[in-house]
Amino acid sequence: MLHESAPPQPIEGPVLGKRKEPCESGLDDGNDTETILNGRDVSPTNLKRIKTAYEKNGLVCLSFLTPAKCDELILEQWRKVLLKQEWTEEYRMTVRGRDGIVLDVDNTDHRKEFLKSVVGPLDPKTRKMMEKGWPLHRGFGACCDSAVYHLEGVWSIRQDPDLYQIASIIAEEENLWVDVNRSIQKLPGQGESEFLHYDFNPFARQKMMNEGGVDVSPKGVCGKACYTPSRFVYVEGTHSDDFQKEFVNVYKDLYPNVKMSDKKFGLDAKKPDPLHLAARKRAMAIPAGSVVMWHPRLLHGQMKTPIGDPVEYGNYVGFFPAGSREGYHAVCNVNELKDRLRSYYKGIGPVLWPSFDKVQYYPYRFNNFPHLLQGYIKKLPPGHPMLCTRISGKGLVVPTLKPLPVPGYQPPPLSDLGTSCLWCRVCSIVSPPPQCLCVCESLVGVYVLEFTWIYIYSHF
Ligand SMILES: [Fe+2]
Repeated sequence: MLHESAPPQPIEGPVLGKRKEPCESGLDDGNDTETILNGRDVSPTNLKRIKTAYEKNGLVCLSFLTPAKCDELILEQWRKVLLKQEWTEEYRMTVRGRDGIVLDVDNTDHRKEFLKSVVGPLDPKTRKMMEKGWPLHRGFGACCDSAVYHLEGVWSIRQDPDLYQIASIIAEEENLWVDVNRSIQKLPGQGESEFLHYDFNPFARQKMMNEGGVDVSPKGVCGKACYTPSRFVYVEGTHSDDFQKEFVNVYKDLYPNVKMSDKKFGLDAKKPDPLHLAARKRAMAIPAGSVVMWHPRLLHGQMKTPIGDPVEYGNYVGFFPAGSREGYHAVCNVNELKDRLRSYYKGIGPVLWPSFDKVQYYPYRFNNFPHLLQGYIKKLPPGHPMLCTRISGKGLVVPTLKPLPVPGYQPPPLSDLGTSCLWCRVCSIVSPPPQCLCVCESLVGVYVLEFTWIYIYSHF
C-alpha cells in the first residue's frame, strides 16, 4: 500500500552513480541517493539486486554503455539520420566547431569537436539552426524516418547478451522479442510536461481480473538507452498489483467516463488526486550510458528537456514475450511477426508500435493543423519524392508527406541472439519437445518459413 511519498531505500550493492536532478516546474526528484546498478555485472547476486529494485520501485537504472560507445552511437545518428534530412540548403544542418569551421562527421580529426558541438549545451544560435533542420517529431524528440528502426549500433544494444539476460530475469520470460522501435534525438526546450498516465486501462484490467479473466495488460519490460544525460518521470511503486487494486478502488468514482474498451488512461489535473500521485511524481536523472528499464504497468509521464541541458540522444529498447500478439493483428490486420520481418528486411517502420498505437510518420495532429505540416513541406524542394497527397476527412485532396526507404539499405547482421530477439527460430530449439513458442508448430516449419520470408522480403 503506497499512500506516502517515501524516499526510495538505497539498494544493497555497488552504487555506481549518485546524482541530483535539477528539475523544471518545481518537480522534485524526491531523493538524494539515486541508485544505479551495474548492468555489466550479471552475477546471480547482482541480477537479484536488479530484480529486487525493479520489483520494488517499478524501474531500474543500469550503468551499461561506455563513453566511447555512446559517442559512436551519437555519431551514427548524425551520419544515418540527422545529416540525411532532405531539406533544401536553407534548412540543412551544418555542424561547426568553436572557430566556425565546418566539421565533417567522418573526419576522425573532427570527431571530438563534432561531438561537443552536437551534444552541447547548445548556444542559442546553434539551437535555432538545429530546430530548423531537425527531423519530423521534433517536439516528441524521436523521428520516424525509415533509417531509425534498424541502425547497426541500436541493434548492438538490442542483441546485447547482458541486457537480454537482465530483461529476461526481470520480465520472468525466457524467450523475448525486442521492440522494433525508434531512436531518440530531443533538443533542449522540446517536449511537453505531460500529465501522468498508464499505458493500459487499469479499470478494465482490474474488472477482468476480478471476474477471473486473463490479465491483458502489457507484458515484458519497457526501456530506453541514453547516450547523453536524460530523465524519466514516474511515480514509484505504482506498477504493483496491490497498488493497482487500491488505485482502482479509490479513483473509479472520480473517472466514471472511462470505457472498458479504452486502451490507456491518463490522470486529469483538474480532478481530485486522493493518493497524491501528482505530488509523488519524480524525475529520475538518467546519466549518459545508462539503460533505464521500467515496468509496463508503471504510472509515468514526460517533461520538457531543460533549455540548458545537453541534447538527448538514445533509443527505446523494450522486450516482450516472444510470439505474435493477437492484439497486433486485431488492430492493423497484419501478423506481427510478418511485420517485424518486413521492417527488418526492407529497412522501414513497422505498422504499429509495441503498444499497438499506429506508427505516424509525422505527428497525427498535423492532419488537423495543416499549417504545421506545411512548415515541413516548404522545407523540401518542389517535386521531391516525399511530397504526395491524401484525401482528407472532408474528401479534399491535400498535400502530405510519406517516408522514403533508406537508399542502399542492408539489414544489419544479427547474432543468434539477435535473430531470436527479432523472431522465433531459437524458440524451437530451446523448447522441449521441439516446438516454436511463436507462430509455427515445428522446427521444419520454422526454417521453411524463415527462408520463404527472407526470400520474399528481400526480393520484392
Ligand atoms: Fe506512456
